[in-house]
Amino acid sequence: MRALYDLLKKEFTYDANRDFYAKFNPSLDRGMDLLSYRPMRSRDIKSIVAIEKQLYNFPWSEGTFKDCQKIGYLCWVCDRVDQVVGYGIVSIAAGEAHIMNIGVDPSFHRQGIGRGLMDRLMETADENRCHVALLEVRPSNDVAIQMYLNMGFSEIGMRKDYYPGKKGREDAVVLSLPLAAKEPEKEPEKESAEKSAKET
Ligand SMILES: CC(C)(COP(=O)(O)OP(=O)(O)OC[C@H]1O[C@@H](n2cnc3c(N)ncnc32)[C@H](O)[C@@H]1OP(=O)(O)O)[C@@H](O)C(=O)NCCC(=O)NCCS
Repeated sequence: MRALYDLLKKEFTYDANRDFYAKFNPSLDRGMDLLSYRPMRSRDIKSIVAIEKQLYNFPWSEGTFKDCQKIGYLCWVCDRVDQVVGYGIVSIAAGEAHIMNIGVDPSFHRQGIGRGLMDRLMETADENRCHVALLEVRPSNDVAIQMYLNMGFSEIGMRKDYYPGKKGREDAVVLSLPLAAKEPEKEPEKESAEKSAKET
């Protein structure tokens, strides 16, 4: 519901103030007001790949992002006005939310966007009644590890030779965060059908 609301709000509301500040006074401290989060669209992928290339030595290709959409991973982006500045992808299966990728345009680091994207991914996990969130991260990635630890993730293991590296392969640290899985909602029609069956 939240995703749909954000999408509709962005599509149908024009905020002249927001555009003015973004174009003519970007240095004014209104950064957070200019950010919005929404599900990824196919036409975002080119911008996302451009960011991805700045972030990683072994970036995902355009094809990999397209496959994520095809497979049904839940993919989010953060816009600053009309520019994609970050993205996050989560795979949901068997009550587990696996964070597959998260990245923020280096020009917009340290403005709360990474945390905002993680919050969206966690909300998505919650809406899908996941009981745990999992992710892998390079042990050398202090910034990302700090963000995950601040969110309550903790280390549960290592995956040997998980990532490609410049000198051979690099291990991954596995982090997890327990989530309070929601009980599935009861189907009201079935319940009342059962009740009337008993009454007859
Ligand atoms: C990790 C990443 C997504 C964080 O994005 P960001 O928008 O800069 O992060 P935020 O501003 O929301 O900060 C979130 C937290 O990250 C940590 N953090 C961010 N930048 C940091 C820095 N330079 N030094 C230490 N901690 C830092 C802090 O814990 C911060 O919380 P705080 O602001 O309350 O202290 C971003 O650095 C990135 O794109 N990195 C490259 C891709 C990557 O490594 N992805 C993760 C793969 S597992």
